[in-house]
Formats: sequence, C-alpha cells, structure tokens
Amino acid sequence: MADLTIESIGKKKPSSIKGDVWLTCIECGEAYPPFDFVIYRCQKCRGLLEVRYANLPKFEDFSGRGVWRYSASLPFEKGVSIKEGDTPLYTVPRIETEIGIDTLRVKHEGMNPTGSFKDRGMTVGVRVVQELGVERLACASTGNTSASLAAYGSRAGLEVIVLLPAGKVAMGKVAQASLHGAKILQLDGNFDECLDIVTKLANEGEVYLLNSVNPFRLEGQKTIGFEILEQSLEEVGRYPDRIVLPVGNAGNTAALYKGFRELVASGALKVEEVPKITAIQAEGASPVVEAIKSGKGQVERWSDVETKATAIRIGNPVNAPKALPAIRETKGTAISVSDEEILAAQCELAEEGIGVEPASAASIAGLKKLRSQGVIEDGEYVVCLATGVLLKDPDAASFARDAPREIPASVEAVMQAILNS
Ligand code: F0G
Repeated sequence: MADLTIESIGKKKPSSIKGDVWLTCIECGEAYPPFDFVIYRCQKCRGLLEVRYANLPKFEDFSGRGVWRYSASLPFEKGVSIKEGDTPLYTVPRIETEIGIDTLRVKHEGMNPTGSFKDRGMTVGVRVVQELGVERLACASTGNTSASLAAYGSRAGLEVIVLLPAGKVAMGKVAQASLHGAKILQLDGNFDECLDIVTKLANEGEVYLLNSVNPFRLEGQKTIGFEILEQSLEEVGRYPDRIVLPVGNAGNTAALYKGFRELVASGALKVEEVPKITAIQAEGASPVVEAIKSGKGQVERWSDVETKATAIRIGNPVNAPKALPAIRETKGTAISVSDEEILAAQCELAEEGIGVEPASAASIAGLKKLRSQGVIEDGEYVVCLATGVLLKDPDAASFARDAPREIPASVEAVMQAILNS
C-alpha cells in the first residue's frame, strides 16, 4: 500500500542497496539501485518511483547558489548546469491589496535559463544520463520541457528528440527547441498521446525519457520549495502558509511535497510548518481538481482537453499518485479557473511589471477565486508560483490588449494618436 504521508520518508536503507541513494516504489515499497539500469516505474507493480537517501538534509547543509546549493538533498554534488534556480520572490503590492491577504509573493520560475522551472529538473536529469551512459534523450511536451531538454541535452552533447502536440505549443517554446538543436516531431494528437508514444519508445530502450515520470527530474524541481522556504525566512520573516501552483502533469506538486517531507524527516521543518499545497488547473483540463473534489484516490483521464494556457493542456497527469497525497496531506486544495480568469490575472501581473505566460497566471487566478470563496484566511502568507516567462507565448501576449495602431510618420500624427488613445 502506498504511504505518502508527510512523515513517510524514513532513513532506513533497504538491505539490498549498497550506496546512499536508491529508488523506492511509492505503491509497494520495492527498492532499486539508482544507476545500474534504466528504470522509470516499479518492475513489480508499475508504481511510480521516488528517489530516497540515507542522509536527509537540514538547512545548514545547504551552501552555494542555485539548484546545486541543495546538493545535500540531491544524488550528485554537481550537474549539467546553466545556472538554474535562484529565482526571485517578487512583491505584488496591488494584487496583494486587491486580494486582501496579509502577504503575497510571486516566485518567478520564468527567470530560469530557458524561461521555466523545467531547468531545475533537467540539470539533475541530464546528469543522471551521464551516469547511465545513454545517448538519445526524449520527451513529450506542451513546450517548456522540450525547450529545457533541448538546451541541457545539447549542452551535454547528446541527441534530443521532442514530441509535441501539433498546433498546440506556443511559438517561443518551439523556437527554443529548434535553436538548441532538438529533432522536433509534431504529432497529430494531444500531449497525453505524445507521452503514451514516447513512453513506449523508452520502454523499448530506444530513447531515455525525461518527462516528469522520471523521478530524478522531480529531485531538481523540489529545490523550488527549499528556495521558497529560505527566501521567505529572509525576506518575509516566516514560512508561507500556502503555495499555489498551476498543475498539468502534476510533477511540481509532487516535487514540492517530496522536498518538504525530507525536511520534516530530518527534523529541519515541523509538520505544521509545511505549506498547504494548492493546485490550480484550467477548467478545460482539470482532472486533478475533479479527483480532489470527489475524494477519489485516482485521477480519471480526460480525453478531450482545451485551454489557452497550452502548457497545462493535459488530461492524464502522470504524477497524480504523488500529487493527490501532496494536496490532501498538506491540507491544501484544488480549483479550476476559466481561460478568461487566467488571462485577466496575466494582465494584472503584467501591470506590476511581471511578465508570465498564461499557465503561470493560473496560480493568481486560482488564489483570487479561492479567496472570494472564503477558503483563504486574512492573515495568510501565500506564495504563487509563476512557472514560465511571458516571451514563451508571444501570441497570447500580443492579443492580450488593444492591437498596435499604424499611423503616418509625423510628429502631428503621433501627438494626435497619443491624445486620442
Ligand atoms: N506551468 C508551465 C509553464 C508548464 O510548462 C507546465 C508543464 C506546468 C505549469 C505544469 O507543471 O506538469 O509539473 O504540473 N509543462 C510540461 C511541458 C507538461 O511539457 O512543458 P506540472
């Protein structure tokens, strides 16, 4: 039986394991060596795997900058790095006042090297590839994973194949994957179908899979949570009560929780200090919200998904078995928001100088909705995760406001246009 309670990470190493790092099935507890062979799921029950360590981190073990500051909680000292992590925690005074909570901050993961949080996972994931000695990397993607894998894979000198749902990936992301040299295959299907296909290829040994079903990706991504805790203590003077994040494949949700469970197990964090993990999905792609609302133990796959927040246009979140306990055990919640609410929140963030892609704004849109429903208390300190930068999706940004006007090239015409705006 799966045990993903907050206090479920123990220090005890299984007798079959030699080193200080291993993989454990979250469903049946079977343990595997981390780098002897390629493995994505439990060979016995197909459950998701989790990276486990003999030594769990305390805050004083962290030193340096970026993702690798947290190497005491990672499988390696160093990775294939393009200086990822260390992203800003922004104040948003106008949105904070409007929502009417004590403190609101936006953790802008779009400030990573390729413009999204995926870089935190790839710096670790591509390092694992070097350990395993594979050469052809692949992912299915709504765009950001492909951009990040293309950059990190090419930095490591490896071949990268990306499978994208044709016509449903924002232009900036395709441009990145292309320039970094990935082979881009646009499939006549949605993200979930792309993931089904690339998973089959990975299981046949044709490619090494770097989607978030790969447990090492999530190790890098859990550092978002560590950074939020450290920055919060320094800049706000306390830990957040809640972290609100956009959810697609639910990797980040799982990763944040994993990091917090490790800190609890090491004694660095009290159970009651763990922030409430609060998941936001787009209405047209919200199977996690459905599962949380109905109290189900599993997420049911949605075959038809649609949203302008294309990054989270996902109907079969592969990390749901890790993410549902993350939301429930931390006393968080899940809610869906409309595309209109998402785009309005994107504009509000832009008015505070913070440029994000639509999916990222789902966290602010969700927070507003939860607040209006009375779920968020007045005194809360909330961190909203912004997952990708504005330039990822220039089309969405260009049509957010009035179209630029064409006028004659004269001082008079310019002045007239300014006054008549
Ligand atoms: N926000 C952005 C900007 C994303 O690109 C993604 C996922 C998410 C949120 C959701 O994160 O999957 O951990 O719940 N993008 C993936 C991709 C699926 O292929 O780029 P999650």
